[in-house]
Amino acid sequence: MRVLLLVGMAWTLAAQTAPPAGNAQKGRQLFQSDGCYQCHGREAQGGLGTGPRLAPRPIPFAQLSKYVRQPTGQMPPYTGKIVSDQDLADIYAFLQAQPQPPPAKSIPLLNN
Ligand code: HEC
Repeated sequence: MRVLLLVGMAWTLAAQTAPPAGNAQKGRQLFQSDGCYQCHGREAQGGLGTGPRLAPRPIPFAQLSKYVRQPTGQMPPYTGKIVSDQDLADIYAFLQAQPQPPPAKSIPLLNN
């Protein structure tokens, strides 16, 4: 019984943390066509005064999808009619697939 309970808890946790499957290539296109890039940059790198960096380590999917639907700041809201849950999953896959930035130590100008 206790084992079953633990397995159940682990399953719930995994379901909460694992983002849904998405297509990064499609996500890149949606990031452009939905206009996210206008504030967050074409590579989701963020822009000064327009929108924060979103990639390559986006916030957990549940949080991201909640924010896109009900933002609390300057960002306009996107309903499921405009950006479906599957579109969001694709965008999420694109964000995760972005390359990691090089370590600051490897950039000579930052180490003078
Ligand atoms: C008009 C500019 C604008 C557009 C377009 C826009 N955003 Fe944003 N976004 C922002 C700003 C500004 C913030 C910072 C919080 C705030 O003021 O709402 C933000 C915050 C976020 C956050 C929260 C980041 C965090 O670390 O908490 C997510 C996720 C996000 N945007 C995703 C998206 C996605 C996905 C799209 C396209 C469907 C999009 N945004 C389109 C301006 C924009």
